[in-house]
Amino acid sequence: MPNHKTRLAVFCSGTGSNFKSLHEAIAKRPLDAEIVLCISNRSQCGAMEFARENGIAARHISEKQFATYAEFVEAMLAALGEYGVEAIALAGYMRKVPQAVVAAYPERMLNIHPALLPKFGGEGMYGIHVHTAVLASGEAESGATVHIVSEEYDKGRIVLQERVPVLPGDTPETLAGRVLECEHRLYPAALEKLLGEMKTAEIR
Ligand code: GRF
Repeated sequence: MPNHKTRLAVFCSGTGSNFKSLHEAIAKRPLDAEIVLCISNRSQCGAMEFARENGIAARHISEKQFATYAEFVEAMLAALGEYGVEAIALAGYMRKVPQAVVAAYPERMLNIHPALLPKFGGEGMYGIHVHTAVLASGEAESGATVHIVSEEYDKGRIVLQERVPVLPGDTPETLAGRVLECEHRLYPAALEKLLGEMKTAEIR
C-alpha cells in the first residue's frame, strides 16, 4: 500500500513521556505511522491527558470495569479493532497484556524497558526497582531496551538497545533520569526499525 501510515496504539499507565517522544518523532522525522489510540488502565494520567489534548482517542480499559477477565480482553480487542490498530507500543503500561492481545499482534508489539535486558528484567523489575537493583549489583553501565512483546515477560526479541554509564554518586533517581532521556531517543528509533521490518515483510 503506497503511503500507508501504520495505525498505532500506545498503552500507558503514567506520565507518558515515551508516548510524547513517539508522537513528536512521528511528526518530525517523519515516520510512516499515526498514533490513533491510547489505552490505559487509569482514567486519569499524564498519558491520557496528552492523548485528549492532541485529538488522539483515549480509552480507559481496566479489568475492574468487567465482571470477567474474558470480557476485559474482549473489550480491549474490540477497541483495537474499532481503530484499525496494526501495531502497539507499550509505554509505561503497568499491567500484563492479555495473551490473546499479544497473540493478535505477533512481531507487532513493542515494549520499552529501563535496563539492558536480559539483565534486570522480569517479575518485580519495574520503575525505580530496576535502577535500585542495577546500583546494588555494582554495574558500570545501564541503559534501555526496546523489545518485541512475546508470551514470556521481558523476553521477546530485542529490537534496539542503548547504553548509559552508571556514574559515581548515582542514586536510583539520577540513574532513572539518565535512562529515561536515553529511552526518548531509543523508542522512536526502534519504532522506525519495526516499521521498516513490517514493510519488508509485506513486500515478501
Ligand atoms: C519508562 O521508564 C519505561 O521504560 C517503563 O516505564 C517508564 C514509563 O515512563 N516501562 P513514561 O510514562 O513514558 O514517562
